[in-house]
Parts: sequence; structure tokens; C-alpha cells
Amino acid sequence: MDIHQHLAMFEEHARRRAARTEPQPLGGQLPPALIRSVQRFQAGEDGDGTSLIAAATRAGDPVYLAAIRLFVAEEQSHAVRLANVVRYAGAAPISGHWTDTVFVLVRRGGGLRLELLTLMLAEVVALRYYRALRDGSGDDYVADVAGRILADEERHVPFHLDRLRQGFAGTPLAGRVAAAAGWWALMTGAALVVSLDHGGALRALGLSRRRFVADVLRLFRPMVTAVFGQRAAAADVSEPPLRRLGRTFRPAHHE
Ligand SMILES: [Fe+2]
Ligand SMILES: [Fe+2]
Repeated sequence: MDIHQHLAMFEEHARRRAARTEPQPLGGQLPPALIRSVQRFQAGEDGDGTSLIAAATRAGDPVYLAAIRLFVAEEQSHAVRLANVVRYAGAAPISGHWTDTVFVLVRRGGGLRLELLTLMLAEVVALRYYRALRDGSGDDYVADVAGRILADEERHVPFHLDRLRQGFAGTPLAGRVAAAAGWWALMTGAALVVSLDHGGALRALGLSRRRFVADVLRLFRPMVTAVFGQRAAAADVSEPPLRRLGRTFRPAHHE
């Protein structure tokens, strides 16, 4: 997809959101660990995208900037829907959680590529998390919200991958190998942190920590290839984190 197609897609979804009234039911029963977990994702989705928008502005492409603004608005709509889920479960939405602070610190001061590489960690985690929330909560309303957020996240990933691939196209192989290795390390760390932080909720959704981490890394692998190319992604230096993790977590091979 080129950037005009991405922008058209974001515009179409913004129109659909504007035409829709979000249901706000009450009286849901969710396990306490799951409520705390959804609260943290709600806070994490609620960024104003300041540094991403600044980096996209510096990139100098008004079409891309327009798409990024709509992307940020879409993430904020996730925060609104998750806040509805939190209230549905009888709790109150929260503001920033420490994991967001880490993301903000990693991203601050970097260019658009670093913004997107870091943002992608959250997107990949989101793919697996919202799928688990859709399939494992046993609650129709929560499943509907999670399913619709998941559908958005599945569109965000190719949007960012296209831009990242473009961003690294002129980088020499050695630089792409180093960036791929760093990205693997960050993704592995992020998946582990989330699995520890949200372990109780994942268990309530029928997903072990080990399985969550293994699934996130399995989703991630083709993205590394998509951004950095086969040769950089296959270079030995990018492999150790996954191999080490494979030994530690012994990921299940069935889906
Ligand atoms: Fe999101
Ligand atoms: Fe997203």
C-alpha cells in the first residue's frame, strides 16, 4: 500500500467511528487481575502522540503527517473504548502507567525511525493481547470491544512496516543487521515485561506467560524481515535473543 492508500484507509475508519455511538453498558463481572490489566492498556493507548507527530512533521511529507494524526486519533479511540470496559467492570480508568514512561524515554530524542521501531513493540504486543482478550474473556461486550480494537491494530502494523522499510532502504547491510538485532532485543524485553506485568490477566484469559511471549516473537519475526530484508534479518547477530528465549520458554509449536 502506498501512503495515499494508508491515508484513505484511516479517513474511512475515522468516518465510521464518527458515525458510531459506543455502547456503555454497566454491571460486568471481570477478574480483578484482568481489570488492572485493561486499565494499563487503556492508559497506554491514551498518549497524545506528541513526539511521534513531531517526528512525522520533521519528515516533511504532509500526506504521511495526516495519516499519523489519524493513527494517533485511532489509538485514542482505543483508550476511550477500554475506559468503557473498565467502567463496565465497576472500576475507574487510570492515567499513565510506568511501562508508558519507559516507551516515552526510549523514544525521546530519536528520529522517526526510532519512534516507529519502538511504537511497533507496542503494536505487536497489542496484536496478541487483544486477540487473547477477544477470545478468552467469556464476555460478549468485552469480546466485541477487543475484536474491533484488534482489527485496527492489524491495519496499523503494515502502515508502520511500509514506512520503516522505506526508512531503512538506504541503510547499508551492517547498519540494518545492527538495527535488526537491537529491535529483536527490545521486542524480547518488551514481551517479557508485559508477560510479567500482565501474567495474572493472561492466565485468566487462558494464556500462559510463556505462550504469550512465544506468540509475540512469532508474530514479530516476519516483521523484522519485512523492514530489514532477508539478509539482515537472517544474520546471526539477530538470532541469539530468540534462541535463548526458545530454550527458556520452550514455545509450543501448535497454534
Ligand atoms: Fe491501539
Ligand atoms: Fe495500534
